[in-house]
Amino acid sequence: MAERLYIGIDLGTYQSTIASSAGTTNTIQTVVGRPKDPVARNFLGRDVLFGADALKNKLACKIFYPMSSGVAQDDEANLAAAKAFVTHLIESVDPEEYDEVLGVICSPSHVSFTDKSNLVATLRGLVNAIMVVTEPFATAFAVEEIAGSLVVDIGAGTTDIARIYGTFPTDEDQLTIQEAGDWLDGELAEMIRKKFTGAQITKDMVRRWKEEASYVGAETKEVMVELSVEGKKQVVDIGDLMQEACESIIPKIGNAIKKIIATADPELQPVIRNNIILSGGGSLIVGLADRVAKEIADIGDVRVWCVEDPLEKVAEGALDLAQQMPDEMYTSIE
Ligand SMILES: Nc1ncnc2c1ncn2[C@@H]1O[C@H](COP(=O)(O)OP(=O)(O)OP(=O)(O)O)[C@@H](O)[C@H]1O
Ligand SMILES: [Mg+2]
Repeated sequence: MAERLYIGIDLGTYQSTIASSAGTTNTIQTVVGRPKDPVARNFLGRDVLFGADALKNKLACKIFYPMSSGVAQDDEANLAAAKAFVTHLIESVDPEEYDEVLGVICSPSHVSFTDKSNLVATLRGLVNAIMVVTEPFATAFAVEEIAGSLVVDIGAGTTDIARIYGTFPTDEDQLTIQEAGDWLDGELAEMIRKKFTGAQITKDMVRRWKEEASYVGAETKEVMVELSVEGKKQVVDIGDLMQEACESIIPKIGNAIKKIIATADPELQPVIRNNIILSGGGSLIVGLADRVAKEIADIGDVRVWCVEDPLEKVAEGALDLAQQMPDEMYTSIE
């Protein structure tokens, strides 16, 4: 039998992860840079840059976020960037050493690969056969909670909430809300600008502060950060704003969870109320599981918990699925 490589891919708005059956896992920020002009091309010494490398050289490059929300999927430049990015991601696990590559792919829910033709075009020539699944389903598979659970994937672009009951969830089983990591960064940035007039901050600075010190709960913590106000260095405490920004996503998530439970089969409802799983980078907010449980306590006994290593869970689950699903579940794209 020909030698096969199985891969699981989590194409994310902010970062993407690939896991292979050869044991390699790689995460790369979903960013592509192309040198702005021949001078930049000459200085950088390459035609295309990816992830952190692209961001480091962002002033000399035209930057693409090919999976970001608001990116039209028929935009040629972004499609080409997506293809280059996915090629780079897959090549990072050395597929050329195998006769056949079979992949399970998760892509952001806002990327409407309605007929999947763009996704297939992006993967053609790299993978022999694919299966497309949702992020919550891959997560549930990774933590072996397929029988009955409610998965909340808090990503950068969207929060995807799905009920899981032993089979592939349908569209009715899933709800997507726009409040996620990027939205939280925007809220926090606005609060900082309002409180510290003239503060010069970027989206990347705010995201880093959030990743270092995000939290929810009743007690206000101190979070000291350094910023410039009209060119002058200032060290300020944004602990109260961090709390307020992170708290602001709680009712949005709470309402979406309640909706998904209320519309479930009545016999499934107690099962999923007791197995609410938080995943995605947003689940790293300190105190989140307890706070979400409190928010939805009015619907009865609930149990809310966070997966370990949330940034890799989707790709891990996709790889598990890739290895366990029978061949007829795959669509050949040769
Ligand atoms: N400690 C942290 N606290 C809060 N948010 C965090 C933390 N660490 C990472 N994040 C946020 O998690 C998000 C990235 O998570 P993830 O990798 O799951 O998203 P994604 O898969 O790229 O996005 P999507 O699923 O929406 O396409 C970013 O917004 C990032 O800032
Ligand atoms: Mg994701």
